[in-house]
Amino acid sequence: MKICTIIGARPQFIKAAAVSAKIAEMGEKFDISEVIIHTGQHYDADMSNIFFEELKIPKEKYNLEVGSGLHGEQTAKMLAGIEDILIEELPNWVLIYGDTNSTLAGALAAVKLHIPVVHIEAGMRSFNRAMPEEINRIVSDSISTLNLCSTTTAIEHLKNEGMGNSAFLTGDVMYDCAMKFEALALKYCDPLAKFALTPQKYILMTCHRAENTDDKLRLSQIVSAVNNIAKNHTVLYTMHPRTASFIERYYLKFSDKVKVVPPIGYLDMLVLEKNAQIILTDSGGIQKEAFFYRVPCVTMRDETEWVETVKLGWNVITGASYDKITEAVANFADHRPAETFDQPYGDGNAAGKIIEQMVNY
Ligand code: UD1
Ligand code: UDP
Repeated sequence: MKICTIIGARPQFIKAAAVSAKIAEMGEKFDISEVIIHTGQHYDADMSNIFFEELKIPKEKYNLEVGSGLHGEQTAKMLAGIEDILIEELPNWVLIYGDTNSTLAGALAAVKLHIPVVHIEAGMRSFNRAMPEEINRIVSDSISTLNLCSTTTAIEHLKNEGMGNSAFLTGDVMYDCAMKFEALALKYCDPLAKFALTPQKYILMTCHRAENTDDKLRLSQIVSAVNNIAKNHTVLYTMHPRTASFIERYYLKFSDKVKVVPPIGYLDMLVLEKNAQIILTDSGGIQKEAFFYRVPCVTMRDETEWVETVKLGWNVITGASYDKITEAVANFADHRPAETFDQPYGDGNAAGKIIEQMVNY
């Protein structure tokens, strides 16, 4: 069984660190080989190479080097490039992750060539079609042969849309990753010393979602709220290049009290997450990681796909409202949520279940 895996954006490299390692581990027994196609959607060293190096992800056989661009242009370049490779490689499966333009291009290229698609992290919905990710998910789910889901919520979404037959619960591969790499990160990485931070005495922030960065009003409110929070808390912000360019374009400025640093590696990130007092983010993956480590999370979005984190009390949705962000941080600074032993994201072996599903199919 030959699998062509499509990756291109930061969270996909991290997810591949769990799944590609498992393919290598189970490959001999089940006669599985993997060819990795990197679309080049993310290309800076700190958005791509660093993850291959520190997480020992097998090197890609192909890199399409599509780079940045408008959605149509970027997706079209990937589609054409992936199609050529699939015709050459003739895999049994195309494996895609999540909801980026790389995901959509991989699904479209494969389905037109009648190659079955396995979609990991399928069935997620924000019910906000203005998000590019929501369109990518809906289209990818609807043309995938196997929709492998992180949560029972995702399974329900697919059932409601008439795709229950393709949906299977595997658990979340990001939980596999956090469990797999935690010990290594704690042993070898000391980002607290690097950034002069004290455990439980800082807020870790990320912000990159298009709906926040591209909208001047939303981004201004976020910057003002964070500048206000930084009067009483240490804030470390690992800034995505997308946000850096909009901060400059809109002449916005973080106060000197906000420590703004370029994107960091995953291992450093895990240590920083685990020791943070609060996480402030609009990332999908980081909302979950906050929950895995039971760190209260403030999510600067109008909705979330990871509804379990909210239901269980560990995540608060604030949108880009200055008042709501400030209030949510103040509340979590005073009250830690009630402990929960619920495990909505699986048992840390989603990768093994993903491979079993493909083999059984
Ligand atoms: C993409 C995904 C988003 C995901 C995020 C993970 C889509 C539609 N969006 O958003 O779902 O959460 O990745 O991080 O696929 N840039 C660089 N260097 C890089 C990469 C990007 O400078 O290595 C800058 C460019 O200015 C680019 C901008 O970031 O235009 C946005 O990059 P892009 O890949 O289009 O989208 P993301 O915002 O990263
Ligand atoms: N991440 C990282 N370094 C950073 C910021 C994020 O390693 O500076 C990791 C984070 O721990 C998580 C993943 O990147 O595993 C999330 O990716 P991102 O927020 O870019 O995308 P999303 O999950 O929102 O699609």
